[in-house]
Amino acid sequence: MKTFKAFRTEEINQYFVNTIQEIDKSTLESGEVIIEVAYSGINYKDYLSSRGNKGVTRNYPHTPGVDVSGRIVSDKTNSFHPGDEVIVMGYDLGMNRDGGFAEYISVPASWVLRKPERFSLQQTMQIGTSGFTAALGIKKMLQSGLKPADGAIVVSGATGGVGIWAVQMLSKLGFEVWAVTGKTGVIPMLESLGAKQILNRDEIMAPIEKPLLRPRWAGAFDTVGGETLSSLLKQTSKSGSVATCGNVGGIALSITVLPFILNGINLLGINAADTLMSVREEVWALLEEIAEPLQVSKFGKEITLEQIGDALDQVGKSGHIGRFTIKVK
Ligand SMILES: NC(=O)c1ccc[n+]([C@@H]2O[C@H](COP(=O)([O-])OP(=O)(O)OC[C@H]3O[C@@H](n4cnc5c(N)ncnc54)[C@H](OP(=O)(O)O)[C@@H]3O)[C@@H](O)[C@H]2O)c1
Repeated sequence: MKTFKAFRTEEINQYFVNTIQEIDKSTLESGEVIIEVAYSGINYKDYLSSRGNKGVTRNYPHTPGVDVSGRIVSDKTNSFHPGDEVIVMGYDLGMNRDGGFAEYISVPASWVLRKPERFSLQQTMQIGTSGFTAALGIKKMLQSGLKPADGAIVVSGATGGVGIWAVQMLSKLGFEVWAVTGKTGVIPMLESLGAKQILNRDEIMAPIEKPLLRPRWAGAFDTVGGETLSSLLKQTSKSGSVATCGNVGGIALSITVLPFILNGINLLGINAADTLMSVREEVWALLEEIAEPLQVSKFGKEITLEQIGDALDQVGKSGHIGRFTIKVK
């Protein structure tokens, strides 16, 4: 076979069009390592890339897909052997390098991580960048000294790809988790993941002018940004920690320095895509201890390459719950 299937985004007369195409295998030769993709998953960044967002992907035609698990076909650096099970997530995969919505990818060897033993190739993609981001934030929270005895931890955007994992993993570590959501009818789902209290998104997002409020929690995992992050910081107890990864609720903060200089709050920034390989290994070791794919993946859906277009439409709409995992081979 000289070609392979890929979900491609093309710019045609200023519109971005997505189709499944046959790609020549010779295009794979530019990379050090060729991987046969077993599974991928859909992240919000893939939605943006498929819609022509030039902040994510500069040049088209392009194959989105920032997460991949699969088997080594060949490696010019001899670091891996054919058949080795590996994962690639982040770096420039699916952004400015053709990504995982395809039967094959080719990447630099330095982006490739051996599959963690506890998980199957399928489970690594049920976790994907969402679960990895949650674990990276939790690792930073633990490093800051936060302990279950300190008090509750709030998770915003709790039914989102990252939030759902943060709720499950923080609960598994013994923290009392309070989940913030804008959705109705999700209380049983959040409670099944370990959430002890469910807070309404509108309450947390309402702009508050005061620089500090009554402390309500020891820490927070924020996936929303904007007024939500500002509000979470103002209500965190002394020496607490707030991890931040997202901006679905805006990029601007309305805070003063007081939470930091009077309450000693740690604001922990998360950037999963550029995480050093040594730290990735530590994060996957933490995931092996605390991630429960069986518990979380039941709120997601497994799809095929042909179903990616419809799934991306859903990811772009509000109200979507859980993660799409793509079974490629
Ligand atoms: N920094 C990193 O390394 C990194 C990695 C992964 C993701 N991210 C970012 O993290 C954020 C969350 O990612 P995700 O994959 O979890 O996204 P997602 O699946 O779309 O979930 C976001 C959740 O936020 C809540 N939400 C949506 N719109 C909102 C609004 N306007 N105001 C307040 N809450 C809103 C919803 O949860 P409820 O309905 O339950 O409230 C939604 O499910 C995104 O901004 C993403 O780009 C960053």
